[in-house]
Amino acid sequence: MILAPSLLSANFADLKSDVDLINESSADWLHIDVMDGVFVPNISFGFPVMEALKKISYKPLDVHLMIVEPDRYISRFKEAGANILNVHYEACTHLNRTLNQIRKEGMKAAVTLNPHTPVVLLEDIISDADMVLLMSVNPGFAAQSFIENTYNKVSQLKELILRKNANCLIEVDGGINLENAKKLSALGADAFVAGNSIFATPDIKAAIAEFKAL
Ligand code: DX5
Ligand code: ZN
Repeated sequence: MILAPSLLSANFADLKSDVDLINESSADWLHIDVMDGVFVPNISFGFPVMEALKKISYKPLDVHLMIVEPDRYISRFKEAGANILNVHYEACTHLNRTLNQIRKEGMKAAVTLNPHTPVVLLEDIISDADMVLLMSVNPGFAAQSFIENTYNKVSQLKELILRKNANCLIEVDGGINLENAKKLSALGADAFVAGNSIFATPDIKAAIAEFKAL
């Protein structure tokens, strides 16, 4: 399984120490949550912070854009060091164009679904996406509880990917812990974002190792 610790739960007064721990760990990606205060009721951080992180992170940056009109910033996020760019289905009017543009910039293109957005809407876009990120909480905050309906959504998405013979990963984000990650993985999820269940533990590297051992 692919594990992407979410920096949103890190110690913002000492980000370098937490990024160093992630670098030394068996985590696969570093998940970066960008919020604009419009698409979600919270504001996180933007380009200057990402550019600084890129200089110290050995792990690929899995960037989750919780912003309106993400198309306006695709090349800026490439410049800032994004490797995977997740845009919300709900924020894109011309999703096919947006995903093509992300790929043209040399990044992996991922579509994110809010908990209320059905998987069936991906029918005609799944072959253009490198990954689908299923939100298992309403985006905007760390440490919320996992929405159980996500199990159904992972099963439906796996079925769609197999039926379309698409080359697309399934990532799940929000309220992830060892228990639900194991179940989601059995249903077909490939990648997991985890914030609180990694950074709120006394030993970050050990928490990551436990996930990777699932
Ligand atoms: C929520 C963010 C998540 C968040 C996950 O809007 O997209 O990436 O950091 O945090 P946990 O794992 O604590 O739910
Ligand atoms: Zn996220």
